[in-house]
Amino acid sequence: MSVGIVGLGYVGLPLVVAFAEAGEDVIGVDVDAGRVASLRAGLSHVEDIPSERLAAVMDRIDFTTRAVDLHQAEAILVCVPTPLNRNREPDLGPLLGAAQTLADVLARGQLVVLESTTFPGTTREHLVPLLEESGLVAGEDFALAFSPERVDPGRTDYTLRNTPKVVGGLTPTCTERALEVYGRVCDELVPVSTPEVAELSKLLENIFRSVNIALVNELAILADRMGIDIWEVVDAAATKPFGFMRFEPGPGMGGHCLPVDPFYLTWKAREYDMVTEFIELAGKVNKQMPYFCLEKIERALNDAGRPVRGSRILVVGVSYKAGVGDLREAPGLKIVELLRERGGDVSYHDPHVPELPQFALRSAELGGECDLAVIVTAHPEVDHGAVVEHSPAVLDLRGVTRALRDEKVQQL
Ligand SMILES: NC(=O)c1ccc[n+]([C@@H]2O[C@H](COP(=O)([O-])OP(=O)(O)OC[C@H]3O[C@@H](n4cnc5c(N)ncnc54)[C@H](O)[C@@H]3O)[C@@H](O)[C@H]2O)c1
Repeated sequence: MSVGIVGLGYVGLPLVVAFAEAGEDVIGVDVDAGRVASLRAGLSHVEDIPSERLAAVMDRIDFTTRAVDLHQAEAILVCVPTPLNRNREPDLGPLLGAAQTLADVLARGQLVVLESTTFPGTTREHLVPLLEESGLVAGEDFALAFSPERVDPGRTDYTLRNTPKVVGGLTPTCTERALEVYGRVCDELVPVSTPEVAELSKLLENIFRSVNIALVNELAILADRMGIDIWEVVDAAATKPFGFMRFEPGPGMGGHCLPVDPFYLTWKAREYDMVTEFIELAGKVNKQMPYFCLEKIERALNDAGRPVRGSRILVVGVSYKAGVGDLREAPGLKIVELLRERGGDVSYHDPHVPELPQFALRSAELGGECDLAVIVTAHPEVDHGAVVEHSPAVLDLRGVTRALRDEKVQQL
C-alpha cells in the first residue's frame, strides 16, 4: 500500500519526502507537468528539501500527473493551493478540481485528508458531495478528515516530525484512520472532534499572527512619530516572563498564508452576519506598511539632500521572510515597485532570489555604489555589518544593525 499526495508545493513535497523517509511508497500527483518532470529528474523546488535529500528516497516515490495512479493508494493527502480571487474571495478552484478528479479514482476503504488551509465547512460542505460522486459514502465507504499543515518554510527546529499535528475526521473512525497514517511521520498528534474544529484552529493560528504583527506595526508608526525606538520598546516588553508574546515590526506581511488565509474566514463569516473586524483591520494595517517604509526611505534620502528620482537605492532582501526565496505577497516587491514609480534607480541583493524578471533585475553583488541601502528582509547569510560599512546611508526595516549604533543607520 502507498500514500498519495496531491499538490507538490511547499506543503506537499515535504510530506512526500517524509513518508518516503518513513519507508512508505509514495505517489506524488500534480497538474503541473513541468513540476512533475523536474521532480522526476530529482530536482527539488522547495528550499527546505535539498535535492540530495529527495535523491536518497527517489526509489520509493512515483511523481506523476496521472491521478488514476492514486486508485491503489491507502491514503490520499490533498495539498493544493487555496488562493483568493481578484475580488479577494476564496478561490476553491484548485481544491474542487482536485476533488472532482479524486471522485473518479476513489476506492473503497481509502482515507482522504485535506491539508490546504480553508474556511470551516470546506471538508463537509464541499469535499463530501464531490467525493461522493464516486458512488461511495463518506465516513462509511471511505474515510475523510481535515488536518492542517503547519510548516514554517525555512525553519529547522520545528519540522513535520516534531510539530504536533491536529486531525479532525468526519467520524471518530475517520479520525482514527488519519491518526494512524500521520503517526508514521509525526511524533505528536492532536485529535479534535470535527473537521470544522481543525479547519478553524488553523485559521486562528494565522489570524493570531496577523493581528499581532499588525499591532506592533501600528505601534512602530506611532513610535516613529513620537521619536521612540520601537525595537527597544519590544525588547523591554519581552522581558515580561508571562502574558506577553514577542512580535517583530517590519515592512509588512508576505507569503501564501497570512495575507490570504484570514480572508477565507472573513468571507465565510458573512454567511453568519458577522464582520470579522480584527482580520480586516490587521490586513489594512499590514498592507499599509510598505507605504510607511516608502515614506521612511524618502525621509532618509531627504536627509542626504536627495529626491527618490535618480537616487541609487539598494534593496537588501526581497523575499517575504528571512532564509527563503518565496516572493508571494512579499512587501519587498511592493517597495521596489513604489520606488520605481517615483523614478528611483533600484537594485537589489538577495541570495535566495537570483532575479526579478518583472523588474528586469538580477541580484547585485554587495559592495557596489548606492545612495541608500534599505534592509527589507534580513537573510542570515548576508553580512549586514558590511552593508552598513559600504553604504553612505542605511534604512534598517528589521532591526538587525541596531547593535552597531552607527549614525548613518536609520531604523523602522
Ligand atoms: N506554504 C506554506 O508555508 C503553507 C503552510 C501551511 C499551510 N499551507 C497551505 O497549504 C496549501 C498548499 O500550499 P503550498 O504553499 O504548498 O502551495 P504551492 O503553490 O506551493 O503548491 C501547490 C501545488 O498544487 C498543484 N495543484 C494545483 N491544483 C492542483 C490539482 N487540481 N491537482 C493536483 N495538483 C494541483 C500546483 O501545481 C502546485 O504544485 C494551501 O492551502 C496553503 O494555504 C501552506
